[in-house]
Amino acid sequence: ISLKAHNTFGLEHSCRALFIAKTTPELSTFCQQLYLSNQPMLILGGGSNIVLCDDFAGTVVVVETKGIELRTTESDYCLAVEAGEDWHELVCYCLDKGIAGFENLALIPGKVGAAPIQNIGAYGIEFKDICEWVEYLDLASGERIRLSVEQCEFGYRDSAFKRQLSGKALITRVGFKVPKVWLPRLDYGPLKALKGPNVTPKAVFDCICATRMEKLPDPAVVGNAGSFFKNPIIENEQFQTLVARYPNIVGYPHGRRHTKVAAGWLIEAAGLKGFQVGGAAVHDKQALVLINKDNASSDDVLGLARHIVDCIFKEFGITLEHEPRMIATTGERSL
Ligand code: FAD
Ligand code: EPU
Repeated sequence: ISLKAHNTFGLEHSCRALFIAKTTPELSTFCQQLYLSNQPMLILGGGSNIVLCDDFAGTVVVVETKGIELRTTESDYCLAVEAGEDWHELVCYCLDKGIAGFENLALIPGKVGAAPIQNIGAYGIEFKDICEWVEYLDLASGERIRLSVEQCEFGYRDSAFKRQLSGKALITRVGFKVPKVWLPRLDYGPLKALKGPNVTPKAVFDCICATRMEKLPDPAVVGNAGSFFKNPIIENEQFQTLVARYPNIVGYPHGRRHTKVAAGWLIEAAGLKGFQVGGAAVHDKQALVLINKDNASSDDVLGLARHIVDCIFKEFGITLEHEPRMIATTGERSL
């Protein structure tokens, strides 16, 4: 069965079996049985944060469970959302209902159930800032567990689901909590221009959508998985040494002792914008995004990614780490 329609990179790989789960009970039962049978299993939302490296010798489970419950308290809006809801549609639903707080995360592809895994983030906020809890099925025990936002150990593109719970948890539902009194977050680049008393959530939403559409390729048109590498976090001393050599290098403070370096800047400065291996290329409007330019194979994508990692290490002494999950024949692997 082809997985081309289930990965936004549009890579042509297959799986042995595919199951589309529409309700939480059927999703849970199916995944738990599969887990206990010890066969390779891959849980997928929208397939927008994976790179298929090979054909998958197991079952792919696509999460399409739906449902949004809305509750209000004196001070907050609280939502409980099923894992298979589309992320951007949830952002639009909230905007329509006058619930503000999600708008900075507009237009991120994928499903709600995947959002906690890498703690999605954009334009000054992260998933963890609006999350209240995450509910998952422990695949080994069949127990349904609810973690508070603190228990999820969220970090930059990181969470407990990527570490100790990797491969063991099926995320089924996510709880959100945003204050009724809107606190606009307008610190990131193009949002600064909106600062003022009359700014609305809709204006922020529109600004984010316009900015993203200008820089990021639409996966429906050109295959990609968003940023291919994480922005590396290095010690301030190392950053200062780099600033002396490359005065225009872009970095942001990350805690007191570290700097988060813009990997897109590094890749562009290394002269790799537009660079191509087979059908895979570095996007010419955003060097951190690799694209399926012309029927790329997974070897093209992996070859290009490895070439970039080598070049950046040679030029800057920094090792880039890939952001999307690399999926091989029986499960996850590294680049
Ligand atoms: P998938 O790719 O289907 O899955 C990703 C991983 O999560 C896989 O390992 C999968 O096994 C696992 N998984 C998925 N659902 C579940 C579940 N219910 N339970 C357990 N495990 C599960 N990310 C950002 O953070 N910020 C951005 O601004 C951003 N912009 C993007 C722009 C573009 C154009 C693209 C293509 C991607 C972008 N991304 C961004 C990455 C991506 O959108 C997010 O990581 C998103 O959360 C992935 O959702 P998905 O449903 O497609 O996950
Ligand atoms: N830059 C360049 N050249 C490039 C690309 C970027 O010089 O080709 C510079 C920009 O000029 C800017 C800086 O790098 O000064 C940062 O660029 P941008 O604002 O486009 O963001 P990013 O750091 O490249 C991160 C996230 C994105 C998220 C945006 C907006 C990571 C790995 N990526 O990208 O998330 O949408 O910020 O907040 O943290 C994703 O994770 O898939 C993703 C798209």
